[in-house]
Amino acid sequence: MIYPIVMYGDPVLKKKAIAIEPGSMDVISLAEYMFETMYAANGVGLAAPQIGQSVQLFIIDTSQLDDEDVGDYKQVFINPEIISENGEKWIFEEGCLSIPTIREDVERNNTVKIKYVDEQWEKHEKVFSGILARIIQHEYDHINGILFTDHLSPLKKRLLKGKLTDISKGKVEISYRIIAPLAKV
Ligand code: NI
Repeated sequence: MIYPIVMYGDPVLKKKAIAIEPGSMDVISLAEYMFETMYAANGVGLAAPQIGQSVQLFIIDTSQLDDEDVGDYKQVFINPEIISENGEKWIFEEGCLSIPTIREDVERNNTVKIKYVDEQWEKHEKVFSGILARIIQHEYDHINGILFTDHLSPLKKRLLKGKLTDISKGKVEISYRIIAPLAKV
């Protein structure tokens, strides 16, 4: 099942998502639908709030990146908690399926240590760096109600205001289904 992706401006993207109680929902199906939705939009990461579900779950799959250094990494993260962020700060141009057509430089730490459970409810604690860490930090932000645009300077954000408003109105040319909070129906 492919969900429409929630666009910038929807309150669900600004809310801190709630933790998932074991057995309270079908996380396997939810993750499966999210992968389908993400592939249809050519994304490498997707967080549950982006399909309107305010729960602490995100997925990543780097196979579409085509980056030999990163390799293919596919994972479901449930109730994640970043324990520490270390390493050099580095700048990378980020994009987001909820903010299509905008890409901006964001500065983050190179390395992240995170604990989470997977869709089989197995516990993990892992360290990621580089692009993988970057995708995880971006998705982790999503379940805490933070968007990459929140990391930009006030000036930069002001310059993007018109474009962001258009996105909220659904006035954006993309190939995947969306729900825009200010769209006229
Ligand atoms: Ni995003």
